[in-house]
Amino acid sequence: MRKVIIAGNWKMNKETESAVSLVRELKTEVRDITDREIVVCPPFTLLGEVKKNLCDSNIFLGGQNMFWEKEGAYTGEISPLMLKDAGCKYVIIGHSERRAYFGETNESVNKKVKTAFCYDFIPIVCIGETLAQREKGEAFGVVEKQLREGLADLKVEDFSKLVVAYEPVWAIGTGKTATPLQAEEIHKFIREILESIFEGKSEEIRILYGGSIKPENISDLMSCQNIDGGLIGGASLSADNFIKIIKFI
Ligand code: PGA
Repeated sequence: MRKVIIAGNWKMNKETESAVSLVRELKTEVRDITDREIVVCPPFTLLGEVKKNLCDSNIFLGGQNMFWEKEGAYTGEISPLMLKDAGCKYVIIGHSERRAYFGETNESVNKKVKTAFCYDFIPIVCIGETLAQREKGEAFGVVEKQLREGLADLKVEDFSKLVVAYEPVWAIGTGKTATPLQAEEIHKFIREILESIFEGKSEEIRILYGGSIKPENISDLMSCQNIDGGLIGGASLSADNFIKIIKFI
């Protein structure tokens, strides 16, 4: 059985006051939930404060990005040691916004995924096609390439800890969600590719969907066989919406 993950990606949003009030409310409302993993990924500046407010809770902390070196002259970067020190267990890698605006490639994703495992994080590796690619019929090819290159040469013992997030770029922040049918079609394909890379382990790997998840569409998406959770952007910024999403049926 794959345990469901509901992860909130706050992106570049929030300062201390609103972050603290959100996680305090969240902590109380979800404290009895044991059948799903709950993760919040605040901006780096808020990790310390959020961690303080989440102590003794069932909510895990994640970073939104991470460099592959552990320290040194890399101005503006964040290292695995720093994320560890801040209390992170998860790290988002290769989000489409990082690919589109900050030059992230499948190759850099691969280095970061290996680093994440090396420091015992659970990487949430993001993949997904743009609208233009989907319209040209390239969605499957793009996703396969992102998987094969981004996840090359991992160690056998890390296979089952991997988390993949399928986030079609055209659905992120647009209000346009993939239909459960569209999402499941790709998720099933992703699992087949994962099986060809990680023989015998694909059934253990969690594949999240991301892209305009809301309280209104989470249940339908989660009813799909190969959707094991969600990576939630906009709707994770409101305690009310995020709680409803976490508590989908
Ligand atoms: P969204 O973002 O829920 O705002 O569409 C999802 C994501 O980018 O992780």
